[in-house]
Amino acid sequence: MTNKIECVAEPATTGLKHLSRIARFYDSEIDGYDNGYSTPLCQAEDEVLVHLIQDMVGSKVVDAGCGTGDFLKYFQPTEYVGFDISHQMVKTAQQKYGGTFMVADMHHLSLPNDYFDTLVSFYGPMSYSLNPQALIQEFTRVVKPGGSLIVMPYTKRSGEAQKSSILEKKVLTGDYSTATNPNIEKVFYSTEMLKELFKGFADVRIVGINFAANGIEYADGILQSMLKKEPISAEFYRNYMLWELENIEEKNRPVEYARHALVTARKPGKSEP
Ligand SMILES: C[S@@+](CC[C@H](N)C(=O)[O-])C[C@H]1O[C@@H](n2cnc3c(N)ncnc32)[C@H](O)[C@@H]1O
Repeated sequence: MTNKIECVAEPATTGLKHLSRIARFYDSEIDGYDNGYSTPLCQAEDEVLVHLIQDMVGSKVVDAGCGTGDFLKYFQPTEYVGFDISHQMVKTAQQKYGGTFMVADMHHLSLPNDYFDTLVSFYGPMSYSLNPQALIQEFTRVVKPGGSLIVMPYTKRSGEAQKSSILEKKVLTGDYSTATNPNIEKVFYSTEMLKELFKGFADVRIVGINFAANGIEYADGILQSMLKKEPISAEFYRNYMLWELENIEEKNRPVEYARHALVTARKPGKSEP
């Protein structure tokens, strides 16, 4: 069970046209959204993500750009609040998990200062911010000193896919990626950009996740339809992602070649006992 906390959503005050474009797009994606992200590859990606962040997630959590609330599939915080700009995402999250979900712009979180242990923003929301410095400042405000920020902006590779052919889109980011919608302005990140944005934080870690599995998944789909073969097993994707994890850490590959960038960092200072 998650406890409710006091918070009142404020209307967004900046970039209204941009925000309403995002909201309309995600509202229109809601049918089939969860199905699209429950492929064996997506599940393997989630597992790797959970493995990478589990030690950083505290018991009071704010989820910025929470989508359909799937953070709660993997973690059970004692206090949780999820924000999203899309009504449909929030409605679905509430139906699925019944926690505290609010329609609001993540640049203006109506939450107290220095309160949460962790702010998460999984699979893309940060890339929709056209003012990332202000966004990170707001994320940092609500987290207590020593608390963690865990964000996943889209990478340069997703940006390339946005401009390329359908085939390349499928190979680079998968059939299900919303990153490649060209009608909404986004910021695609490199390792250097993320280092710059998070300088001043403690324990900064920047990694890329999934360098090649989308290509494997796509090729497998074609072979399945041509040869009527069985799909590659979920275990294969899991092992592939775990192998990739070892490589990520060993070779320190830049995020721009990956489908997802993951940044974990701590707000400087010590938490009150
Ligand atoms: C690709 S989805 C990821 C959803 C979720 N975090 C997940 O892991 O499944 C990106 C989400 O960010 C939300 N979003 C984008 N800009 C936002 C903003 N300024 N404020 C709140 N939510 C935003 C979108 O509405 C969308 O639900």
